[in-house]
Amino acid sequence: MMNMYEKVMESVDYIRRKIDRNPQVAVILGSGLGNLVDIMENKEYISYEDIPNFPRSTVAGHEGKLVFGNLRGIEVLAMQGRFHYYEGYSMKEVTYPVYTMKKLGINKLIITNACGGINTSFSPGTLMLIKDFINLMGDNPLIGHNDERFGPRFPDMSEPFKLEWIEKAKRIAAQLGIGYGEGIYAGFMGPYYETAAEIVSIGRMGADAVGMSTVPETIAANYLGMEVLGIACITNMATGIQKVKHSHERVVETAQKASSNLCKWVEGIIESMDL
Ligand code: HPA
Repeated sequence: MMNMYEKVMESVDYIRRKIDRNPQVAVILGSGLGNLVDIMENKEYISYEDIPNFPRSTVAGHEGKLVFGNLRGIEVLAMQGRFHYYEGYSMKEVTYPVYTMKKLGINKLIITNACGGINTSFSPGTLMLIKDFINLMGDNPLIGHNDERFGPRFPDMSEPFKLEWIEKAKRIAAQLGIGYGEGIYAGFMGPYYETAAEIVSIGRMGADAVGMSTVPETIAANYLGMEVLGIACITNMATGIQKVKHSHERVVETAQKASSNLCKWVEGIIESMDL
């Protein structure tokens, strides 16, 4: 049986045979935030289902493909559709694409998501720069045998989101006139939206927002030695803070509304990236 390293290398070989490009940065697009792909140029696509060993996407509103293209002349790999732990994937499957990106030679990763706001200075539509995370998923992708070819047994996690990159993102936002918040993202297992009591306790822990993704990919990327920037789109206030019940449709709708600002911001950030 192939080990994970061999599987990832087989996926990478397949992608390389199909597409002769060298992306400098990868972007994971959250629910309703897929529009970035619309502003990419010279696009080439690969469906997840065609890539050997790649997991497959199951959630409505999540497309499953890798999109290679340019943004402002920079080669970008966008992941349209991600894998969530709540879908029943293992943490290794959830993060498999990040391992693949790294072995494609990508060292920078921008992660976006849709999430619930806990910090009451936020409102639906706020874009939050993620400063740090709290892993409440009860699992993580690094459990089990460690293959040193990927990264160290005990990786440092003191700067999961690259400070320099956060500072740059703030400068770009100011230049573009894009408003944003900043805060700590808690990763909750899902798929149910948290209870009001859970939100109170997660807020006391220090989280400003809560969602069901991002944390596994951020852990894996740091382990692999990649630099990560995280931008969360607050699509609703978390349970007990907002008065109405949650709906996935509303989450996607709000994310879509915020998407044009997010796209502009990400484009600006990529354009000013040190390669
Ligand atoms: N909680 C968890 N995940 C989410 C939420 C939320 O309120 N909104 C969008 N994703």
